[in-house]
Amino acid sequence: MTKAERGIYKHCDMADLERVLKEADKKYRRILVISDGVFSMDGDVAPADQIVKLTNEVGAMSYIDDAHGEGVLGEGGRGCGSHFHIEGKITVEMGTFSKAFGVVGGYVAGSDDLRSFALNKSRSWLLSGSHPPATTAACIAAIDVLETEPRHVKKLWSNTKYWKKQLRSAGFDIGNSVTPITPVMCGESHKAKALSEKLWEAGVFALPIVFPMVARDKARIRTMVNAGLKREDLDKALDAFVNGGKQVGII
Ligand SMILES: Cc1ncc(COP(=O)(O)O)c(C=O)c1O
Repeated sequence: MTKAERGIYKHCDMADLERVLKEADKKYRRILVISDGVFSMDGDVAPADQIVKLTNEVGAMSYIDDAHGEGVLGEGGRGCGSHFHIEGKITVEMGTFSKAFGVVGGYVAGSDDLRSFALNKSRSWLLSGSHPPATTAACIAAIDVLETEPRHVKKLWSNTKYWKKQLRSAGFDIGNSVTPITPVMCGESHKAKALSEKLWEAGVFALPIVFPMVARDKARIRTMVNAGLKREDLDKALDAFVNGGKQVGII
């Protein structure tokens, strides 16, 4: 697979990471490289395989927040580790149950030592109540669905491909996204806000993402299809985007 096929964003400069790691290796005893697996504003993917390789070379640790990759990337939605075939090689894998899983809570996964360290040192864990059983049961049920019903992840990707293709052919700029997170770039904040209002009037709820969440001139509507949407739902949303986009002068 090429870098582009794996969705690696050109801004992830691995040569720079290598340089920084080599410099830091001389100064520090422990080094931890932290990255999102999928970046939530652009829908691009971090080169986690390269991060793991480079950190291993200098004995550093890797930490991937896969909140937007789990349930989406890799075999059956197993996440960024599966996508890059580096399962078990990331030192700290973190995720949330509040996105693809549709529940709440999260997890940190790694070695037995990491688990024991986290259980004994994490203040929020030590001094907080746990989830009620119903929440835990819902998380387990969501994982069961992911493991036993691969059709949902397949549908997510077929909806994603259709949605991106339709947006592109309508003339929208959807940036560097290679995942279901698909930004519709609007430029200035007022345009994103105006488009969001037009969409709302047409029955489509999509919030504008503006400065300071993104750079001033990179305001956008962040869209994210799900596996439950039908073609007619996507076509309806597309009509709203096309009409709204023309009215606010984005296309
Ligand atoms: C990259 C990333 N990690 C973690 C989280 C935390 O999710 P939550 O607090 O809903 O579990 C979010 C939420 O948006 C996120 O974008």
